[in-house]
Amino acid sequence: MRVGIVGLGYVGLPLAVAFAAAGVEVVGVDISAQRVGEINAGDSYIEDVPDAELAAALPRLNATTDYASLADVDAVLICVPTPLTPNREPDLGPLLSSAEAVGKVVRAGQVVVLESTTYPGTTRERVAPLLERGGLRAGVDFNLAFSPERVDPGRTDYTLVNTPKVIGGLTEACGDRAEEVYRVVCNEIVRVATPEAAELTKLLENIFRAVNIALVNELALLTDRMGIDIWEVIDAAATKPYGFMRFEPGPGMGGHCLPVDPFYLSWRARAFDMAPEFTELAGKVNQQMPYHCVAKLQRTLNDRGIAVRGARIALLGVSYKPGVGDVRESPALKIIELLLKLGAEVVYHDPYVPTLKRFELESKPLEQALAGADLVLIVTAHAGIDYDALAADGTCVFDLRGVTHPSVDSQVVRL
Ligand SMILES: NC(=O)c1ccc[n+]([C@@H]2O[C@H](COP(=O)([O-])OP(=O)(O)OC[C@H]3O[C@@H](n4cnc5c(N)ncnc54)[C@H](O)[C@@H]3O)[C@@H](O)[C@H]2O)c1
Repeated sequence: MRVGIVGLGYVGLPLAVAFAAAGVEVVGVDISAQRVGEINAGDSYIEDVPDAELAAALPRLNATTDYASLADVDAVLICVPTPLTPNREPDLGPLLSSAEAVGKVVRAGQVVVLESTTYPGTTRERVAPLLERGGLRAGVDFNLAFSPERVDPGRTDYTLVNTPKVIGGLTEACGDRAEEVYRVVCNEIVRVATPEAAELTKLLENIFRAVNIALVNELALLTDRMGIDIWEVIDAAATKPYGFMRFEPGPGMGGHCLPVDPFYLSWRARAFDMAPEFTELAGKVNQQMPYHCVAKLQRTLNDRGIAVRGARIALLGVSYKPGVGDVRESPALKIIELLLKLGAEVVYHDPYVPTLKRFELESKPLEQALAGADLVLIVTAHAGIDYDALAADGTCVFDLRGVTHPSVDSQVVRL
């Protein structure tokens, strides 16, 4: 079997390496010549793919910017980004241009699978027509399916191999062909009847998280006013052995999935005369969190007789979650923007994010970042820092992640 993977990012590169490690010849296509060069040189830009793993895969993995190389493969898996426009509507630009390019080389007998997160109907209504432009018919001459990616960057207990893979084919035979391909790298396959069911499965998973995070975020706003520690409440609720699932508040949602995917569904729902209120409300509540964090930071400094203007604020962690360098939609960016507008001096420490070009900031070594800080703001709690020790010398710490354990006389404030 030979597999082609289009889009070699957080999703596509680990997938390409997994197939190559399983002995499959892989052609990886990306529009970024720089990324293609890096891959072929064994230089990984994705944390989940160590250089050694990439090097081991290289004899069977060949990256290119040329879609023509896909003509010889048995399966084409599309993993390009599905972002939002500035008006928060689905931006299918990369997806449609990649489908159009695949359409120029697709041949009879191949199976094409879309992995990019998108709204129900995309595979059938938007991708299939582009693939069929050359005269071949989807579900007849070639196979077409949707199979959502469930990778959680930075996670090691659940990987591509042991996370069940959901597949919805355009026809039964399309599903069978896609299943055959994924069986090479995944232990368990879950079949659903249509691409639409598979598309919505992914959105349900992410909206479920967005709604539950919004619920605890809203509670955090309330407990702040009530003077109750939200973390203590969550810890206590989580002792219930059934019927409760732990979600934690924070400075807002980041990454390429949670802040983006719900808008794909709410946009699509409008065509069916529905406004999915839970979904939209979750987005609204979560978007407010960076503003709340900055307001509480202002109060915290105020209590110490310090104005935000001119104060030195040291952010710890700016990526959207621990253990990764991805800053897409990271709430840290909004917080920095708001702090700079208020006239604060912002410094940060994040071993995964060497620079934040947008703000012309560079990550400082921990000691340097903490030196002279009026307030230390824990935004993303990467491993390797003793967060409790930070406040021990009297430094004022505002913890947005519940990783500190404040004592009565400590200088720690939690979200
Ligand atoms: N990152 C995640 O954790 C995650 C998890 C599950 C699902 N997803 C979904 O998977 C999809 C890909 O996400 P990602 O995080 O891997 O994105 P990414 O930005 O990390 O990678 C996408 C890659 O596609 C390339 N690309 C863009 N347009 C292209 C085109 N027309 N032709 C070929 N290559 C092109 C880019 O250069 C980039 O290398 C998205 O739909 C996302 O929602 C992401």
